[in-house]
Amino acid sequence: MLHTSDASCPSMARLDELVQMLLQSEVDNPVRPMLDPSKVADELGLAIPAGGLSIEETIDKLRGVVLATPVTSGTGFYNQLFGGREPIAVLAEMLGAILNNSMYTYKAAGVQVVLEQILLDKMASLAGMTGGDGLFTPGGSMSNLAAMIIARNEKVAGTREEGLPGGRYIVYTSAESHYSVRKNAGLIGLGRENVRKVPVDNTGRMLPEELERMINEDNQRGNHPTMVIATSGTTVMGAFDPIKPIVEVGHRHDLWVHVDGAFGGSALLSKEFSPLMDGVELADSLTWDAHKMMGVPLICSVMLTREPGMTTNHFDESATYLFQQDEDRLNPGTRSLQCGRRNDALKLWAAWQHLGDTGYEKRLNRQLELAAHFRDRVAEDPELTLSFEPEWINVCFEVTGKPSDRICDLLDKRRLAKLGWGIVFGRRVIRMVCVNPALTEGDLDELLANVKLVARDLPEADNAVDNRQASDD
Ligand SMILES: Cc1ncc(COP(=O)(O)O)c(C=O)c1O
Repeated sequence: MLHTSDASCPSMARLDELVQMLLQSEVDNPVRPMLDPSKVADELGLAIPAGGLSIEETIDKLRGVVLATPVTSGTGFYNQLFGGREPIAVLAEMLGAILNNSMYTYKAAGVQVVLEQILLDKMASLAGMTGGDGLFTPGGSMSNLAAMIIARNEKVAGTREEGLPGGRYIVYTSAESHYSVRKNAGLIGLGRENVRKVPVDNTGRMLPEELERMINEDNQRGNHPTMVIATSGTTVMGAFDPIKPIVEVGHRHDLWVHVDGAFGGSALLSKEFSPLMDGVELADSLTWDAHKMMGVPLICSVMLTREPGMTTNHFDESATYLFQQDEDRLNPGTRSLQCGRRNDALKLWAAWQHLGDTGYEKRLNRQLELAAHFRDRVAEDPELTLSFEPEWINVCFEVTGKPSDRICDLLDKRRLAKLGWGIVFGRRVIRMVCVNPALTEGDLDELLANVKLVARDLPEADNAVDNRQASDD
Protein backbone atom coordinates (compact mmCIF):
# COMPACT_ATOMS: atom_id res chain seq x y z
CA MET A 1 0.00 0.00 0.00
CA LEU A 2 1.25 3.46 -0.86
CA HIS A 3 1.31 6.07 1.90
CA THR A 4 0.83 9.68 0.87
CA SER A 5 3.78 10.58 3.06
CA ASP A 6 5.99 8.25 1.04
CA ALA A 7 8.45 10.37 -0.94
CA SER A 8 8.03 7.98 -3.85
CA CYS A 9 4.29 8.73 -4.09
CA PRO A 10 3.91 9.55 -7.82
CA SER A 11 1.46 12.42 -7.38
CA MET A 12 3.57 14.16 -4.71
CA ALA A 13 6.67 13.75 -6.86
CA ARG A 14 4.96 15.81 -9.56
CA LEU A 15 4.34 18.75 -7.24
CA ASP A 16 7.49 20.70 -8.09
CA GLU A 17 6.93 20.36 -11.83
CA LEU A 18 3.30 21.51 -11.55
CA VAL A 19 4.22 24.47 -9.36
CA GLN A 20 6.93 25.56 -11.81
CA MET A 21 4.46 25.25 -14.69
CA LEU A 22 1.90 27.36 -12.84
CA LEU A 23 4.39 30.06 -11.86
CA GLN A 24 5.72 30.35 -15.42
CA SER A 25 2.18 30.55 -16.80
CA GLU A 26 1.41 33.44 -14.44
CA VAL A 27 4.28 35.40 -15.95
CA ASP A 28 3.35 34.48 -19.54
CA ASN A 29 -0.39 34.94 -19.06
CA PRO A 30 -1.18 37.22 -16.12
CA VAL A 31 -4.84 37.52 -17.15
CA ARG A 32 -6.43 34.31 -18.36
CA PRO A 33 -9.18 34.25 -20.99
CA MET A 34 -12.68 34.37 -19.52
CA LEU A 35 -14.20 30.99 -20.32
CA ASP A 36 -17.89 30.67 -21.02
CA PRO A 37 -19.31 29.27 -17.76
CA SER A 38 -21.89 27.22 -19.64
CA LYS A 39 -19.16 25.48 -21.65
CA VAL A 40 -16.25 25.27 -19.25
CA ALA A 41 -17.29 21.97 -17.68
CA ASP A 42 -17.34 20.24 -21.06
CA GLU A 43 -14.21 21.95 -22.35
CA LEU A 44 -12.14 20.92 -19.35
CA GLY A 45 -13.88 17.60 -18.69
CA LEU A 46 -14.90 18.47 -15.16
CA ALA A 47 -17.62 15.84 -14.70
CA ILE A 48 -16.85 13.10 -12.18
CA PRO A 49 -16.01 9.86 -14.02
CA ALA A 50 -17.62 6.55 -13.03
CA GLY A 51 -14.26 4.83 -13.12
CA GLY A 52 -11.15 6.50 -11.73
CA LEU A 53 -8.42 8.04 -13.89
CA SER A 54 -4.74 7.27 -13.75
CA ILE A 55 -2.47 9.71 -11.93
CA GLU A 56 -1.18 10.96 -15.29
CA GLU A 57 -4.69 11.55 -16.62
CA THR A 58 -5.75 13.25 -13.43
CA ILE A 59 -2.69 15.49 -13.49
CA ASP A 60 -3.49 16.42 -17.08
CA LYS A 61 -6.94 17.51 -15.94
CA LEU A 62 -5.49 19.40 -13.00
CA ARG A 63 -3.13 21.18 -15.36
CA GLY A 64 -6.07 22.23 -17.53
CA VAL A 65 -8.05 23.51 -14.56
CA VAL A 66 -5.09 25.39 -13.11
CA LEU A 67 -4.34 27.09 -16.43
CA ALA A 68 -7.99 28.14 -16.74
CA THR A 69 -8.18 29.67 -13.27
CA PRO A 70 -7.85 33.45 -12.78
CA VAL A 71 -4.36 34.49 -11.70
CA THR A 72 -4.32 36.44 -8.44
CA SER A 73 -0.56 36.87 -8.02
CA GLY A 74 0.51 38.39 -11.29
CA THR A 75 0.80 41.81 -12.81
CA GLY A 76 -2.84 41.76 -13.91
CA PHE A 77 -4.83 41.32 -10.72
CA TYR A 78 -6.12 44.32 -8.83
CA ASN A 79 -9.68 43.19 -8.34
CA GLN A 80 -9.80 42.17 -4.73
CA LEU A 81 -8.45 42.98 -1.31
CA PHE A 82 -5.85 40.25 -1.70
CA GLY A 83 -3.25 39.64 -4.38
CA GLY A 84 0.31 38.42 -4.65
CA ARG A 85 1.76 35.88 -2.30
CA GLU A 86 4.36 35.32 0.35
CA PRO A 87 6.11 32.22 -1.03
CA ILE A 88 7.07 30.90 2.41
CA ALA A 89 3.44 31.09 3.50
CA VAL A 90 2.42 29.09 0.44
CA LEU A 91 5.01 26.46 1.32
CA ALA A 92 3.61 26.28 4.84
CA GLU A 93 0.06 26.09 3.48
CA MET A 94 1.08 23.08 1.38
CA LEU A 95 2.72 21.48 4.39
CA GLY A 96 -0.42 22.20 6.41
CA ALA A 97 -2.48 20.35 3.80
CA ILE A 98 -0.08 17.42 3.88
CA LEU A 99 -0.09 17.32 7.68
CA ASN A 100 -3.90 17.71 7.66
CA ASN A 101 -4.43 18.28 11.36
CA SER A 102 -7.75 19.37 12.72
CA MET A 103 -7.23 22.23 15.09
CA TYR A 104 -9.70 21.19 17.75
CA THR A 105 -7.43 19.30 20.14
CA TYR A 106 -3.83 19.17 21.21
CA LYS A 107 -4.14 15.44 20.73
CA ALA A 108 -4.92 15.89 17.05
CA ALA A 109 -2.86 18.99 16.23
CA GLY A 110 -0.07 19.15 18.84
CA VAL A 111 2.40 21.99 18.37
CA GLN A 112 0.10 23.64 15.83
CA VAL A 113 -2.24 24.59 18.67
CA VAL A 114 0.61 26.25 20.53
CA LEU A 115 1.79 28.25 17.54
CA GLU A 116 -1.78 29.32 16.82
CA GLN A 117 -1.98 30.65 20.38
CA ILE A 118 1.36 32.44 19.93
CA LEU A 119 -0.12 34.25 16.91
CA LEU A 120 -3.28 35.20 18.79
CA ASP A 121 -1.14 36.54 21.65
CA LYS A 122 1.09 38.40 19.23
CA MET A 123 -1.78 40.02 17.38
CA ALA A 124 -3.54 40.81 20.66
CA SER A 125 -0.42 42.50 21.96
CA LEU A 126 -0.21 44.65 18.83
CA ALA A 127 -3.87 45.56 19.35
CA GLY A 128 -3.29 46.37 23.04
CA MET A 129 -5.57 43.43 23.96
CA THR A 130 -3.04 41.29 25.83
CA GLY A 131 -4.70 38.94 28.28
CA GLY A 132 -7.92 38.92 26.27
CA ASP A 133 -9.28 36.15 24.12
CA GLY A 134 -9.42 35.27 20.44
CA LEU A 135 -9.83 32.65 17.76
CA PHE A 136 -9.09 31.92 14.11
CA THR A 137 -12.19 31.87 11.89
CA PRO A 138 -12.90 31.07 8.25
CA GLY A 139 -12.76 34.71 7.16
CA GLY A 140 -13.48 38.27 8.11
CA SER A 141 -17.22 37.81 7.72
CA MET A 142 -17.08 34.95 10.19
CA SER A 143 -14.87 36.96 12.56
CA ASN A 144 -17.49 39.67 12.46
CA LEU A 145 -20.17 37.07 13.05
CA ALA A 146 -18.36 35.67 16.08
CA ALA A 147 -17.92 39.16 17.52
CA MET A 148 -21.56 40.03 16.90
CA ILE A 149 -22.80 36.89 18.63
CA ILE A 150 -20.65 37.68 21.65
CA ALA A 151 -21.82 41.28 21.61
CA ARG A 152 -25.49 40.26 21.43
CA ASN A 153 -25.15 37.75 24.26
CA GLU A 154 -23.18 40.14 26.46
CA LYS A 155 -25.63 42.98 25.97
CA VAL A 156 -28.95 41.10 25.89
CA ALA A 157 -28.76 38.92 28.97
CA GLY A 158 -30.09 35.38 28.66
CA THR A 159 -30.09 35.34 24.85
CA ARG A 160 -27.85 32.37 24.46
CA GLU A 161 -30.17 30.11 26.43
CA GLU A 162 -33.58 31.74 26.07
CA GLY A 163 -33.34 33.59 22.75
CA LEU A 164 -33.96 37.28 22.19
CA PRO A 165 -36.66 38.94 24.26
CA GLY A 166 -39.15 41.36 22.61
CA GLY A 167 -38.07 44.71 21.22
CA ARG A 168 -35.61 45.94 18.62
CA TYR A 169 -31.88 45.49 19.22
CA ILE A 170 -29.96 48.02 17.18
CA VAL A 171 -26.57 47.69 15.43
CA TYR A 172 -24.74 50.86 14.32
CA THR A 173 -22.12 50.82 11.61
CA SER A 174 -20.90 53.30 9.02
CA ALA A 175 -22.58 53.77 5.67
CA GLU A 176 -19.32 52.44 4.16
CA SER A 177 -19.09 49.26 6.24
CA HIS A 178 -18.87 45.74 4.83
CA TYR A 179 -22.05 43.89 3.90
CA SER A 180 -21.28 41.12 6.39
CA VAL A 181 -22.60 43.36 9.17
CA ARG A 182 -26.12 43.42 7.73
CA LYS A 183 -25.94 39.80 6.67
CA ASN A 184 -24.84 38.70 10.14
CA ALA A 185 -27.56 40.80 11.81
CA GLY A 186 -30.02 38.78 9.76
CA LEU A 187 -28.30 35.50 10.63
CA ILE A 188 -28.26 36.04 14.38
CA GLY A 189 -31.83 37.20 14.81
CA LEU A 190 -31.16 40.91 15.29
CA GLY A 191 -32.77 41.71 11.93
CA ARG A 192 -31.18 43.44 8.95
CA GLU A 193 -33.55 46.35 9.30
CA ASN A 194 -32.15 47.03 12.74
CA VAL A 195 -28.75 47.95 11.31
CA ARG A 196 -28.38 51.73 11.24
CA LYS A 197 -25.99 53.20 8.69
CA VAL A 198 -24.22 56.10 10.39
CA PRO A 199 -23.26 58.93 7.99
CA VAL A 200 -19.59 59.45 7.09
CA ASP A 201 -17.37 62.46 6.36
CA ASN A 202 -15.93 63.25 2.94
CA THR A 203 -13.21 60.60 3.29
CA GLY A 204 -15.64 57.88 4.34
CA ARG A 205 -15.09 57.94 8.13
CA MET A 206 -18.00 57.45 10.53
CA LEU A 207 -19.14 60.62 12.28
CA PRO A 208 -19.21 59.90 16.05
CA GLU A 209 -21.64 62.79 16.73
CA GLU A 210 -24.09 61.25 14.24
CA LEU A 211 -23.66 57.92 15.99
CA GLU A 212 -24.63 59.49 19.30
CA ARG A 213 -27.61 61.28 17.76
CA MET A 214 -28.90 58.00 16.30
CA ILE A 215 -28.43 56.17 19.61
CA ASN A 216 -30.40 58.89 21.41
CA GLU A 217 -33.16 58.66 18.81
CA ASP A 218 -33.44 54.91 19.27
CA ASN A 219 -33.52 55.28 23.04
CA GLN A 220 -36.40 57.75 22.72
CA ARG A 221 -38.29 55.26 20.52
CA GLY A 222 -37.88 52.54 23.15
CA ASN A 223 -35.42 50.51 21.04
CA HIS A 224 -32.32 48.85 22.51
CA PRO A 225 -29.00 50.19 21.14
CA THR A 226 -26.78 47.10 21.40
CA MET A 227 -23.53 47.30 19.45
CA VAL A 228 -21.48 49.56 17.21
CA ILE A 229 -19.15 48.25 14.52
CA ALA A 230 -16.38 50.60 13.50
CA THR A 231 -14.39 49.77 10.36
CA SER A 232 -10.62 50.05 10.01
CA GLY A 233 -10.10 50.12 6.26
CA THR A 234 -13.49 50.21 4.54
CA THR A 235 -13.93 47.97 1.55
CA VAL A 236 -14.23 50.56 -1.19
CA MET A 237 -12.71 53.77 0.20
CA GLY A 238 -10.19 52.27 2.64
CA ALA A 239 -11.37 54.68 5.34
CA PHE A 240 -10.52 54.30 9.03
CA ASP A 241 -13.34 55.19 11.42
CA PRO A 242 -12.10 57.21 14.43
CA ILE A 243 -12.10 54.42 17.00
CA LYS A 244 -11.43 56.42 20.16
CA PRO A 245 -14.44 58.77 19.91
CA ILE A 246 -16.62 55.87 18.75
CA VAL A 247 -15.58 53.84 21.82
CA GLU A 248 -16.34 56.85 24.02
CA VAL A 249 -19.85 57.21 22.61
CA GLY A 250 -20.46 53.46 22.51
CA HIS A 251 -19.34 52.74 26.05
CA ARG A 252 -21.14 55.82 27.43
CA HIS A 253 -24.34 54.18 26.16
CA ASP A 254 -23.29 50.67 27.25
CA LEU A 255 -22.86 49.32 23.71
CA TRP A 256 -20.39 46.62 22.64
CA VAL A 257 -17.77 48.16 20.37
CA HIS A 258 -16.35 45.92 17.65
CA VAL A 259 -13.68 47.02 15.18
CA ASP A 260 -13.86 45.38 11.74
CA GLY A 261 -10.19 45.50 10.80
CA ALA A 262 -10.51 42.65 8.30
CA PHE A 263 -8.79 44.84 5.75
CA GLY A 264 -7.04 47.59 7.70
CA GLY A 265 -6.11 45.71 10.90
CA SER A 266 -2.67 45.23 9.36
CA ALA A 267 -2.00 48.92 9.99
CA LEU A 268 -0.97 47.67 13.44
CA LEU A 269 2.18 46.23 11.84
CA SER A 270 3.59 49.65 11.04
CA LYS A 271 4.70 52.42 13.39
CA GLU A 272 3.82 54.93 10.70
CA PHE A 273 0.29 53.70 10.10
CA SER A 274 -0.82 52.15 13.41
CA PRO A 275 -2.08 55.57 14.66
CA LEU A 276 -4.96 55.03 12.19
CA MET A 277 -6.20 52.51 14.73
CA ASP A 278 -5.67 54.51 17.91
CA GLY A 279 -8.21 53.41 20.47
CA VAL A 280 -8.50 49.80 19.25
CA GLU A 281 -7.11 48.75 22.64
CA LEU A 282 -10.26 50.18 24.22
CA ALA A 283 -12.65 48.35 21.88
CA ASP A 284 -14.34 45.13 22.95
CA SER A 285 -13.41 43.05 19.92
CA LEU A 286 -11.46 43.15 16.66
CA THR A 287 -11.52 41.33 13.31
CA TRP A 288 -8.18 41.06 11.51
CA ASP A 289 -7.62 39.16 8.25
CA ALA A 290 -4.09 38.04 7.49
CA HIS A 291 -5.18 36.81 4.05
CA LYS A 292 -5.67 40.36 2.89
CA MET A 293 -2.70 42.67 3.48
CA MET A 294 -0.35 40.13 5.08
CA GLY A 295 -0.14 38.09 1.87
CA VAL A 296 -1.05 34.78 3.46
CA PRO A 297 -3.13 32.40 1.31
CA LEU A 298 -6.89 32.44 1.85
CA ILE A 299 -8.29 31.90 4.48
CA CYS A 300 -6.58 33.39 7.52
CA SER A 301 -8.66 35.56 9.84
CA VAL A 302 -8.76 36.16 13.58
CA MET A 303 -11.30 37.64 15.96
CA LEU A 304 -9.89 39.02 19.20
CA THR A 305 -11.64 40.23 22.35
CA ARG A 306 -10.32 42.58 25.01
CA GLU A 307 -11.70 40.54 27.90
CA PRO A 308 -10.71 36.92 28.58
CA GLY A 309 -13.13 34.00 28.51
CA MET A 310 -15.40 35.37 25.80
CA THR A 311 -15.14 32.50 23.33
CA THR A 312 -15.66 29.93 26.09
CA ASN A 313 -18.56 31.89 27.58
CA HIS A 314 -20.37 32.13 24.28
CA PHE A 315 -19.33 29.19 22.09
CA ASP A 316 -18.46 26.31 24.41
CA GLU A 317 -19.94 22.86 24.08
CA SER A 318 -18.75 19.58 25.50
CA ALA A 319 -18.36 16.31 23.58
CA THR A 320 -17.02 13.30 25.39
CA TYR A 321 -16.22 11.61 22.08
CA LEU A 322 -13.86 14.43 21.16
CA PHE A 323 -12.42 16.33 24.09
CA GLN A 324 -10.86 13.46 25.99
CA GLN A 325 -7.41 14.64 26.83
CA ASP A 326 -5.58 17.75 27.87
CA GLU A 327 -6.94 20.89 29.45
CA ASP A 328 -9.38 23.04 27.49
CA ARG A 329 -6.71 25.67 26.91
CA LEU A 330 -5.14 23.20 24.49
CA ASN A 331 -8.43 22.17 22.88
CA PRO A 332 -9.60 25.16 20.84
CA GLY A 333 -12.46 23.00 19.54
CA THR A 334 -14.23 23.55 22.85
CA ARG A 335 -14.70 27.19 21.95
CA SER A 336 -14.45 27.58 18.15
CA LEU A 337 -17.29 28.14 15.68
CA GLN A 338 -16.58 24.86 13.92
CA CYS A 339 -15.85 21.30 14.87
CA GLY A 340 -13.36 20.11 12.23
CA ARG A 341 -11.25 23.08 11.35
CA ARG A 342 -8.41 23.50 8.89
CA ASN A 343 -5.07 24.82 9.97
CA ASP A 344 -4.94 28.48 9.04
CA ALA A 345 -2.20 29.34 11.49
CA LEU A 346 0.85 27.56 10.10
CA LYS A 347 1.12 29.70 6.98
CA LEU A 348 0.89 32.96 8.93
CA TRP A 349 3.33 31.65 11.45
CA ALA A 350 5.82 30.71 8.72
CA ALA A 351 5.44 34.07 6.99
CA TRP A 352 5.96 35.92 10.27
CA GLN A 353 8.96 33.73 11.11
CA HIS A 354 10.50 34.62 7.79
CA LEU A 355 9.63 38.31 7.68
CA GLY A 356 9.73 39.13 11.38
CA ASP A 357 8.03 42.26 12.67
CA THR A 358 10.42 44.42 10.67
CA GLY A 359 9.78 42.58 7.42
CA TYR A 360 6.04 42.87 7.83
CA GLU A 361 6.36 46.55 8.65
CA LYS A 362 8.41 47.07 5.48
CA ARG A 363 5.90 45.06 3.48
CA LEU A 364 3.01 47.17 4.70
CA ASN A 365 4.85 50.43 4.16
CA ARG A 366 5.62 49.32 0.61
CA GLN A 367 1.91 48.72 -0.07
CA LEU A 368 1.21 52.27 1.09
CA GLU A 369 4.12 53.58 -0.99
CA LEU A 370 2.68 51.98 -4.13
CA ALA A 371 -0.72 53.47 -3.34
CA ALA A 372 0.86 56.92 -2.93
CA HIS A 373 2.58 56.52 -6.31
CA PHE A 374 -0.68 55.50 -7.97
CA ARG A 375 -2.56 58.36 -6.30
CA ASP A 376 0.01 60.86 -7.62
CA ARG A 377 -0.20 59.48 -11.17
CA VAL A 378 -4.00 59.79 -11.10
CA ALA A 379 -3.99 63.26 -9.55
CA GLU A 380 -1.56 64.71 -12.10
CA ASP A 381 -3.33 63.25 -15.16
CA PRO A 382 -5.80 65.66 -16.82
CA GLU A 383 -7.85 62.72 -18.22
CA LEU A 384 -8.48 61.31 -14.73
CA THR A 385 -10.38 62.42 -11.63
CA LEU A 386 -9.26 61.30 -8.18
CA SER A 387 -12.45 60.57 -6.18
CA PHE A 388 -11.06 61.54 -2.75
CA GLU A 389 -7.72 61.72 -0.93
CA PRO A 390 -6.91 58.09 -0.08
CA GLU A 391 -6.06 57.18 3.50
CA TRP A 392 -5.10 53.59 2.70
CA ILE A 393 -4.17 51.45 -0.30
CA ASN A 394 -7.45 52.01 -2.17
CA VAL A 395 -7.18 54.66 -4.84
CA CYS A 396 -10.57 55.46 -6.38
CA PHE A 397 -10.83 57.44 -9.58
CA GLU A 398 -12.73 57.99 -12.82
CA VAL A 399 -11.60 58.40 -16.38
CA THR A 400 -13.40 61.69 -16.73
CA GLY A 401 -16.64 61.24 -18.68
CA LYS A 402 -16.16 57.51 -19.28
CA PRO A 403 -18.12 54.63 -17.65
CA SER A 404 -16.10 53.05 -14.82
CA ASP A 405 -17.98 49.74 -14.88
CA ARG A 406 -17.51 49.21 -18.62
CA ILE A 407 -13.83 50.14 -18.42
CA CYS A 408 -13.32 47.38 -15.85
CA ASP A 409 -15.24 44.87 -17.98
CA LEU A 410 -13.28 45.75 -21.10
CA LEU A 411 -9.93 45.49 -19.32
CA ASP A 412 -10.92 41.99 -18.29
CA LYS A 413 -12.27 40.97 -21.71
CA ARG A 414 -9.10 42.18 -23.41
CA ARG A 415 -7.07 40.35 -20.79
CA LEU A 416 -5.26 43.50 -19.75
CA ALA A 417 -6.18 43.50 -16.06
CA LYS A 418 -8.77 42.61 -13.50
CA LEU A 419 -9.89 45.75 -11.77
CA GLY A 420 -13.10 46.46 -9.85
CA TRP A 421 -15.41 49.40 -9.40
CA GLY A 422 -17.50 50.61 -6.49
CA ILE A 423 -19.89 53.40 -5.61
CA VAL A 424 -18.52 56.42 -3.77
CA PHE A 425 -20.82 59.28 -2.88
CA GLY A 426 -23.28 58.37 -5.61
CA ARG A 427 -20.75 57.82 -8.39
CA ARG A 428 -19.31 54.70 -9.98
CA VAL A 429 -15.57 54.83 -9.49
CA ILE A 430 -12.71 52.54 -10.41
CA ARG A 431 -11.21 51.08 -7.25
CA MET A 432 -7.51 50.31 -7.43
CA VAL A 433 -6.15 48.33 -4.49
CA CYS A 434 -2.36 48.38 -4.15
CA VAL A 435 -2.17 45.21 -2.07
CA ASN A 436 0.62 43.34 -3.86
CA PRO A 437 3.98 44.68 -2.68
CA ALA A 438 5.86 42.67 -5.30
CA LEU A 439 4.57 44.97 -8.04
CA THR A 440 6.62 47.87 -9.30
CA GLU A 441 5.71 51.48 -9.98
CA GLY A 442 6.13 50.55 -13.66
CA ASP A 443 3.40 47.89 -13.37
CA LEU A 444 1.02 50.47 -11.95
CA ASP A 445 1.87 53.00 -14.67
CA GLU A 446 1.20 50.35 -17.30
CA LEU A 447 -2.15 49.54 -15.72
CA LEU A 448 -3.14 53.18 -15.79
CA ALA A 449 -2.09 53.43 -19.44
CA ASN A 450 -4.28 50.42 -20.22
CA VAL A 451 -7.23 51.93 -18.33
CA LYS A 452 -6.98 55.04 -20.50
CA LEU A 453 -6.50 52.96 -23.63
CA VAL A 454 -9.71 50.97 -23.24
CA ALA A 455 -11.62 54.07 -22.10
CA ARG A 456 -10.93 55.64 -25.49
CA ASP A 457 -12.96 52.86 -27.14
CA LEU A 458 -16.00 53.54 -24.98
CA PRO A 459 -18.69 56.18 -25.48
CA GLU A 460 -19.06 59.11 -23.07
CA ALA A 461 -21.17 58.27 -20.00
CA ASP A 462 -21.98 59.78 -16.63
CA ASN A 463 -20.94 57.72 -13.63
CA ALA A 464 -23.67 59.16 -11.38
CA VAL A 465 -25.99 56.45 -10.04
CA ASP A 466 -29.60 56.89 -9.05
CA ASN A 467 -30.61 56.73 -5.39
CA ARG A 468 -31.64 53.10 -5.49
CA GLN A 469 -28.09 52.12 -6.38
CA ALA A 470 -26.38 54.70 -4.26
CA SER A 471 -25.65 52.33 -1.41
CA ASP A 472 -24.69 48.68 -1.26
CA ASP A 473 -27.65 47.64 0.90
C1 LIG B 1 -14.04 45.75 5.86
C2 LIG B 1 -14.27 44.29 5.56
N1 LIG B 1 -14.78 43.49 6.51
C3 LIG B 1 -15.01 42.18 6.29
C4 LIG B 1 -14.73 41.61 5.07
C5 LIG B 1 -15.02 40.14 4.84
O1 LIG B 1 -13.84 39.42 4.86
P1 LIG B 1 -13.78 37.94 4.27
O2 LIG B 1 -13.78 38.06 2.80
O3 LIG B 1 -12.51 37.43 4.84
O4 LIG B 1 -14.99 37.20 4.78
C6 LIG B 1 -14.21 42.39 4.05
C7 LIG B 1 -13.92 41.82 2.73
O5 LIG B 1 -13.64 42.47 1.77
C8 LIG B 1 -13.98 43.78 4.29
O6 LIG B 1 -13.50 44.59 3.32
